[in-house]
Amino acid sequence: MESIKKITILTGAGISAESGISTFRDQNGLWENHEIEDVATPEGFARNPELVYKFYNQRRFQLTQDNIVPNPAHEALVKLEKEFDGSVLIITQNVDDLHERAGQESLIHMHGELLKMRCVATNKIYKSPSFFDQDTACPCCQEVGNLRPHIVWFGEMPFYMDKIQNALLDSDLFLSIGTSAQVYPASIFYRWAEQGGAKTIELNLESTAASERFNENYQGRASELVPEFVDKLLRGDISPEVS
Ligand code: APR
Repeated sequence: MESIKKITILTGAGISAESGISTFRDQNGLWENHEIEDVATPEGFARNPELVYKFYNQRRFQLTQDNIVPNPAHEALVKLEKEFDGSVLIITQNVDDLHERAGQESLIHMHGELLKMRCVATNKIYKSPSFFDQDTACPCCQEVGNLRPHIVWFGEMPFYMDKIQNALLDSDLFLSIGTSAQVYPASIFYRWAEQGGAKTIELNLESTAASERFNENYQGRASELVPEFVDKLLRGDISPEVS
């Protein structure tokens, strides 16, 4: 390969951790003291919609507080997008809006967005008010009970999979940043990138279940690691060769 021209980057909860947003798997499978099955599955929503609405209303409230802002890792990826002589696509598993608030333009939210809601009758997507629940009337059908968080739960298909697969197969470099690589299909994106001939690099606080499958690994806090790595890339110090 002559040089790196197309970079595809997967981000996970680890990139937002230093902005004050909890990761998913730090506390024995509990997310903000809830079982993931109760708050992040269609079955949990059917069983106890009140709990699920309340949970996402709280997460949305937290995300919109003044102290929650993008950190240097988000900012470094914006710098990469602006200054790199080639294409950069961010695929995020995060439902927060910190990449876009930092100024990222080429961005896919594969697991949905906390600040959006969806009508289950028409599939129309709306910017969410700070609070909504089973008593909120839907803007399109005017019915109550039709709005749900625009979030991909366990057992549901992530969004934009065709576009994601094509981008990965067409990449020269794939970076995985701040994700534990435990959730399919994001957990196998490195394989699609590899199939297309890309070099694969993981940047994470610690090693993950997939670390050994990457060509290179860098460990540390995203707020330090990502800006350093981006500077290296922009200087041309990351070899395109798979070692
Ligand atoms: N810098 C870099 N990495 C960090 C940092 C940090 N400051 N803090 C934590 N990490 C790493 C952790 O070591 C862990 O490997 O980020 C990773 C976060 O992993 P998870 O909590 O499992 O989050 P993620 O991989 O994004 O989860 C994927 O699971 O629950 C679903 O849909 C949800 O999108 C989510 C998906």
